[in-house]
Amino acid sequence: MALRGDYSRAAADFSVEQDWSSYRCEEHALFKRLYERQSKLVPLYACPEWITAIAGLDAGAGVPKFNEISKKLRAKTGWEIVAVPGLIPDVAFFTHLAGRRFPVTVWLRKPEEFDYIVEPDVFHDFFGHVPLLFDPVYADHLHEYGKGGLKAMRLDAVRMLARLYWYTIEFGLMKTPDGIRAYGAGLISSGGELAYCVTDPNPRRLDFDLEKALRTDYQIDRYQTTYFVIDSFAQLLRATAPDFTPIYARLRSLPSLAP
Ligand code: PHE
Ligand code: CO
Repeated sequence: MALRGDYSRAAADFSVEQDWSSYRCEEHALFKRLYERQSKLVPLYACPEWITAIAGLDAGAGVPKFNEISKKLRAKTGWEIVAVPGLIPDVAFFTHLAGRRFPVTVWLRKPEEFDYIVEPDVFHDFFGHVPLLFDPVYADHLHEYGKGGLKAMRLDAVRMLARLYWYTIEFGLMKTPDGIRAYGAGLISSGGELAYCVTDPNPRRLDFDLEKALRTDYQIDRYQTTYFVIDSFAQLLRATAPDFTPIYARLRSLPSLAP
């Protein structure tokens, strides 16, 4: 697949300068429009941890300066943002997460991609992922995930671990006192699926099951038909804490499950 970012200036770890001054006026305006549309939905459908964090960010005026956000993030949970040209190889991605650096794509979608985009852009990465890095438990979980990714590479189990990422970090739901809410970044940054995942009667909403998530294939080009629901980030941290080595060994011989 051809990626659309500019990788020519990336360092060995795939990081780039954000070069904030090169964003055009129309790009800041488009980011602001995306932010405003999503801001009407998140109070109804996003989990409380995300809502609390975004309030302290003051990032809706245009494409944010990663350095300024990183300063706040470092103080709160020790994470920072690293600017990248787009999707990066597994080893670079896991290494950043294992070092408490979250890779955020520098480019923004085009106006005609307002509702739907194939590759993650700065709006998805920033709005969807970054606020939860302010939650200490979520932050520790993602750090563990990064270390687990490097281990999964050695065990040839990245496919299984990537499914878990999909069903938690990207499309996870959570039980809250106000009902089911989204914490997955793919949901929180989506104009359509955010309300759908919480309110539509059709998709399955299963209690989180680690082995089932590791085994279930996913579809990247439509709303999900199955979501996994956690009780809390503490539950997610606990459920993913055991050594996955024997789990990978056992699941490897079983067929994958349809989405
Ligand atoms: N505990 C997992 C392992 O041993 C790593 C992991 C942590 C995976 C958190 C996902 C989330 O491989
Ligand atoms: Co994402």
